[in-house]
Amino acid sequence: MGILANLSLLLPFLQVCCGVGSHFNKKQYFPLLSPLLVEEQLLWVSNVTAEVNTFRIPLITFTPKGSLLAFCEARKFSYNDMEAKFFAVKRSVDKGSTWSPMSFILDDGPQVDGLNLGVVVVDEKAQSVILVYTVCFHQYKCITSSVMMVESLDDGLSWSRPRNLSEQLGVKSFAPGPGLGIQKRLPPHQDRLVVCGHGTLKGDGVFCILSDDSGKTWRNGAALKSIPYNQPKQALDFNPDECQPVELSDGSILVNVRNQNQYHCHCRMVVRSLDGGETLPVEELFFDKNLIDPAVAAGMLEKEGRVYFTNPAHPEKRVNFTLRWSLTNGKSWEKDMLQLWPGPSGYSCMTTLNSSTEDRKFIFILYERGKRDSVETVVFAKVHLYGGL
Ligand SMILES: *[C@@H]1O[C@H](CO)[C@@H](O)[C@H](O)[C@H]1NC(C)=O
Ligand SMILES: *[C@@H]1O[C@H](CO)[C@@H](O)[C@H](O)[C@H]1NC(C)=O
Ligand SMILES: *[C@@H]1O[C@H](CO)[C@@H](O)[C@H](O)[C@H]1NC(C)=O
Ligand SMILES: *[C@@H]1O[C@H](CO)[C@@H](O)[C@H](O)[C@H]1NC(C)=O
Repeated sequence: MGILANLSLLLPFLQVCCGVGSHFNKKQYFPLLSPLLVEEQLLWVSNVTAEVNTFRIPLITFTPKGSLLAFCEARKFSYNDMEAKFFAVKRSVDKGSTWSPMSFILDDGPQVDGLNLGVVVVDEKAQSVILVYTVCFHQYKCITSSVMMVESLDDGLSWSRPRNLSEQLGVKSFAPGPGLGIQKRLPPHQDRLVVCGHGTLKGDGVFCILSDDSGKTWRNGAALKSIPYNQPKQALDFNPDECQPVELSDGSILVNVRNQNQYHCHCRMVVRSLDGGETLPVEELFFDKNLIDPAVAAGMLEKEGRVYFTNPAHPEKRVNFTLRWSLTNGKSWEKDMLQLWPGPSGYSCMTTLNSSTEDRKFIFILYERGKRDSVETVVFAKVHLYGGL
């Protein structure tokens, strides 16, 4: 109902505006942005089977062949972060209209601090999909935290055996994402895989790991450390946490960061890497007061010179799930926005296809939402960027 109402409001507006839009920007042949929710599906519902108590931590990506892969953690016995899990995956070969039944990639049995998602990154050169995750992140009833990866070379149908990246990176608690890694499209360091995440709560900060050979070898790149580093934190300390990088059209990497202890504001931290993820200089750090945030993992996506952002847009609570967009590489945000769910909502991830004119009109969002609690369901939302036209 809301959708129809929106559409009828937008149609007359678009008819007037579109000519003006293309006149303003000759490079774009699409009309003005007016994102519209066109399809929604509950991909996972918590608490309906005996095997899984809670589904959390949504990740979504397109594959090089144009399929969609959606992932999440299936927490077996409770909603806790420290809970036995498996990694659930669903696949769609028709751009999200229908989905495969759930299958799983890895299962940690009864281990309470076993698997932790994670980042999915697509390597267009190697035509592979890589999932980077952690085992024993919290070092709770286990000793060594390790960063691991599995890889699919057949469009997400099957996965390699796990590889232990801590053998190359050293042993340190590092939780990738949650969200998407990037493959650099532009210089500097074209084709590089960049996966960013955060450390333990004490040794927190944003850290990126890099691979210049399609995931065969990895090394540590940029770090933006918390203050005081490796010491217990208190309210309002500087504590960069979960993050989502995107590559901008100038080849720099913008990293949108959860401001865990609400240093400076109840809003997002943003930092930029100018050297392909080697460094995150403090000179490039700012606080985006327009992106109010309750301290959560948010979604960000760059597409054809525009930047999209999703989070529960509220200073204290995880409610009011909202999509926003920027025409200035995240320096400012358009006044218009699209509220996708007024109630409880949490983590989110976004992807898009660029292969054909029709595909390029959409973005695809996977997010946590519920009626009483944000972890009740994981929802897939398809958004038409140009008002359904
Ligand atoms: C991963 O490698 C590190 C370093 O060699 C080792 O300490 C750790 O036990 C390994 N983890 C797993 C899960 O095999
Ligand atoms: C939802 O978020 C938007 C963007 O920050 C804000 O303008 C709006 O007031 C919020 N609505 C509620 C009910 O919090
Ligand atoms: C689509 O994305 C791929 C990978 O990032 C890139 O190589 C290609 O040039 C893009 N195509 C268009 C039409 O933008
Ligand atoms: C799942 O069920 C348990 C036990 O009935 C309940 O405590 C919990 O709130 C439920 N979780 C969700 C997400 O509905």
